[in-house]
Amino acid sequence: MNGPAPRRFWRAPALKALLGQLLAFPLTLAATFLLARAGLSMSWLAVALLQGGWSALLAWRMNLAPWWRIIQLVFAPALVLARGLADAAALPSAVFLFLFIALLLVFWSTFRTQVPYYPSGREVRDIVAGLLPERPLALIDIGSGLGGLVLDLARRRPDCDVSGIELAPLPWLAARLRAGVTGARARMLRGDYERLNLGHYDVVFAYLSPAAMSGLWHKASSEMKPGSLLLSYEFVITEREPDRRFVTTNGKKILYLWHF
Ligand SMILES: C[S@@+](CC[C@H](N)C(=O)[O-])C[C@H]1O[C@@H](n2cnc3c(N)ncnc32)[C@H](O)[C@@H]1O
Repeated sequence: MNGPAPRRFWRAPALKALLGQLLAFPLTLAATFLLARAGLSMSWLAVALLQGGWSALLAWRMNLAPWWRIIQLVFAPALVLARGLADAAALPSAVFLFLFIALLLVFWSTFRTQVPYYPSGREVRDIVAGLLPERPLALIDIGSGLGGLVLDLARRRPDCDVSGIELAPLPWLAARLRAGVTGARARMLRGDYERLNLGHYDVVFAYLSPAAMSGLWHKASSEMKPGSLLLSYEFVITEREPDRRFVTTNGKKILYLWHF
């Protein structure tokens, strides 16, 4: 593994979103107070909608991506509705704690990396397997999730050294167990690919997010060895034109390839 990953913590949109909610709170209080003085009493849901409105407005002013504005808008109302649902169904509060811990273990540092978990699927695996050179290779999926692609390639190419690296604990554990149960010759590493030397691999596969691509390009271009391949599903690198494109899923998503 290499040195520490760049600190993106304080620039994480999730922290800006939290700040937006905190700044919106006094505005909501003031508006609720003024409306109450004017004789207009509001339900909890109406107050939450007001909080959502202020937060969405602040998200727009902070230049957060459109989906963050929607999240900010619905966050407080969703809390009020969930609370109402819990009361109506007499759910124990432990249910929410359990859900929170499960989501935390799956999405872990998504707030920093801006790369959530979603699988790539069989069609991509078929294309990746088809374009691998016919010689023993060291291959890695950076952000391997539940390990689907890694296990599939390890099964198809027993001559290759296939690994995956995953930051989030629960998907990593699931991938590790899957490899153990199926007896796959695949290495499931737990950690941050930003600390890994990509120069050890002939093929690097990534299915990340637009936010990660520029950093990945700088890392790959300084570490990957001549003759190696970088593959990125769905998300393109703007710094260098891909050498090849493979169209998947009815022409909607593309697998990009760069030669080094
Ligand atoms: C879109 S999923 C792709 C899963 C898998 N590669 C596939 O094709 O099905 C991206 C995964 O990358 C992981 N991830 C994000 N940033 C990471 C990092 N810096 N190091 C390791 N894993 C990371 C996320 O936790 C998530 O599970």
